[in-house]
Amino acid sequence: MTQPTPFALMVGTGAIRKGHGMGETFIGSGKTGDSAVYLRRKFEVEGASEATLRLTALGCYKAWLNGRELDPQVFLPGRTSVGHRLQVQEYDIAGQLMDGPNVLAVLLTKGWYGKDPALYCSLSIDGREQCGVAGWLCSADGPLGFHDMKLGEIYDARKEADWTAVTYDDQGWAAPIEQTYEGALVAHQGARILEHERFVPTVVHTPDGSTVLDFGQNIAGYMEFTVTGREGHVVKMLYGETLDEAGNFTQKNLGFRVNKKTGSPEQTVQYVLKEGTQTYKPQASVHGFQLVKLEGWPEEVVPRNFSAIAVYSDLEQTGTFTCSNEKVNKLVENIRWSTKGNFLDIPTDCPQRERAGWTGDIMVYSIPATYQMDTRAFLRKWLEDVMLEQGEDGRICNIVPDGGMPPFMDGAAGWSDAIVKLPWVLYQFYGDEEILERAYPAMQKHIAFMERRSKKRKPWNALKGRHWDDLIDTGFHWGEWLEPGTSMPAGALRGFTVPDVEVASAYYAWSTATVSKVASVLGKEGDARRYLELSERVKAAYRTEFLPEGTVRSSRQCRYVRPVALDLIDDEAKPGVVAALNDAVVANGYRIGTGFLSTPHICNVLSDHGYVETAYRLLENEEQPGWLYEVGHGATTMWENWYGKDDAGHVTNSLNHYSPGAIVGWLYSRVAGIQPLEPGFERVLIAPVIGGSMTWVDCTYKSAAGTIRSMWRREGSALALHIEVPRPAVVRLPNGEEREVEAGAYEFYCEL
Ligand code: BGC
Repeated sequence: MTQPTPFALMVGTGAIRKGHGMGETFIGSGKTGDSAVYLRRKFEVEGASEATLRLTALGCYKAWLNGRELDPQVFLPGRTSVGHRLQVQEYDIAGQLMDGPNVLAVLLTKGWYGKDPALYCSLSIDGREQCGVAGWLCSADGPLGFHDMKLGEIYDARKEADWTAVTYDDQGWAAPIEQTYEGALVAHQGARILEHERFVPTVVHTPDGSTVLDFGQNIAGYMEFTVTGREGHVVKMLYGETLDEAGNFTQKNLGFRVNKKTGSPEQTVQYVLKEGTQTYKPQASVHGFQLVKLEGWPEEVVPRNFSAIAVYSDLEQTGTFTCSNEKVNKLVENIRWSTKGNFLDIPTDCPQRERAGWTGDIMVYSIPATYQMDTRAFLRKWLEDVMLEQGEDGRICNIVPDGGMPPFMDGAAGWSDAIVKLPWVLYQFYGDEEILERAYPAMQKHIAFMERRSKKRKPWNALKGRHWDDLIDTGFHWGEWLEPGTSMPAGALRGFTVPDVEVASAYYAWSTATVSKVASVLGKEGDARRYLELSERVKAAYRTEFLPEGTVRSSRQCRYVRPVALDLIDDEAKPGVVAALNDAVVANGYRIGTGFLSTPHICNVLSDHGYVETAYRLLENEEQPGWLYEVGHGATTMWENWYGKDDAGHVTNSLNHYSPGAIVGWLYSRVAGIQPLEPGFERVLIAPVIGGSMTWVDCTYKSAAGTIRSMWRREGSALALHIEVPRPAVVRLPNGEEREVEAGAYEFYCEL
């Protein structure tokens, strides 16, 4: 038998195939309760020369043509703003059709949609398009019963049959119903969602008598297993991230819901055996986990019978960073795993709890992510949904897509500013002016929304000075979020009652100043001036309120970081503020004191103003709170909370949030010193900062203009620097000397 050629997935540019309100016909099964929907359509072919298949779904689908899987991707059609648009996958299937009967088989699950799923299928053979329910049959009585992306699934292997084959007898299957979808169908735009690495576990017997598999790496994905047993025997697999303080498996840090069917909290797969030996991996749920607890396993637990499969968007790795400090190398690896675990078609906060497209998380992590992976198409796709879901009044949602938060909570400072930050980062890294053009109207609406907000005041601020007309004290804001010593509920409560004016006003000023720069790039000089003036007014108001004597007075590190990092104060005022930040960090024993919003900036701010050693000591601090504390305590990903796990093994919150991993941005941009001097790295800056325990660093970044390398080594009191640049570069040596070079490879030496 000849090996069939692979199906070709055609990736489009995201152009809309059909507009809103056209009313596309979808194939639904009616009320199926909890179960997955199995669909089949038989059709006859005679000498077809051209055949194109287009598929999408409300929910997720997996398709087979004549028994053969159509696409190795999982969770198609991907995750978009369901009310607005669905991605369509298009396949050239001409070579796979057989003369005579053929069958298209589709498994439909609820996916991120969460409701009764429905399929869109257009089959075009030699120019004749067939769409709609005609010819389809469906069944909701297959092996996959209850299923939910987060809660897990129940699979009954006794019901398995060869239902994707042409020869399968589908008598008894029902006719599906027709359903209309009013959103747009767009070409597949994001990266492919694929299975990647596999991990084999070690078996742990916990004090409470349970058997737990430890895969050694926290991932997003699922576990494939092989089991031998008697028909009807039930096994349960509970997915979790860690053991608790007593050394037992726990899911208590994971979530908010309980699966009523399995009686377990989130992330549980229940499997009913058929007779004999069988292999299964989940098809309708994905989990954030390092551990799996087995319940009711019918035989000896042998590691080779299990493998954890990492599932994430297939983005090209663009960055590598290694150095002489092995713990920092492990940190970099952990951060990469948090990126993989949270890049499942959209950027999420965590893969086990909300798994939501929180705008703030990728706002703070956009630069670090983009050094490590080619985020261009991935973020571009998600931004499209951010724009589609923007409120009429200009507020950007906290969660995209389909966050469903009450609108009064949307538009939060630092979160909503993703609409400005992400296009700006894509422009800096890829020279992508088109995204600026595309996002500009949404940015303008965002600024107008904040401007209107600034004109309102809380009653208790009503009598304050005129500058309060340019500060924001209304709306809901998360504030700095999760500084050491604060808790999530307390932070959220403060967001409702006394929103943080300093944070809200700072981001108002930063976004407005950045939109002014965007307007300049786009040649809109009038807009550029207007936004610049507005941002200057807001910055002045900020300074009047928060730096009345030209400096900050606060016990919180974020209060010093923000005005410098977001450029809210004059350059002359910065050294004083950073000196005070340095004092605050020293007084805190070189431990991190910032939360979500300022953590990406603190080391940049310190090292840019001469406090290189302090920045390194913050990074290399091994006590809690600190990045290397986590490494020293078994972390394989980034923890959400600086106190995620304490010495006693007590766990709070998620252990897989990339936001605190934004420090990796400092490693690429300052420690290795690779930065774009012109958009798209058409001119490169190489300005490494040397300090801490590090004796060497080797970093590469595959930029849009070509691969850049910065490699340095301390040699006694001197520094040897090797660089490779694909474009002209400015090289700034640690002794202050600056050289301009053309594309090429160079060596530099200087005394430190
Ligand atoms: C999420 C965050 C998110 C936040 C809003 C949390 O529950 O996990 O990462 O940005 O809520 O503050």
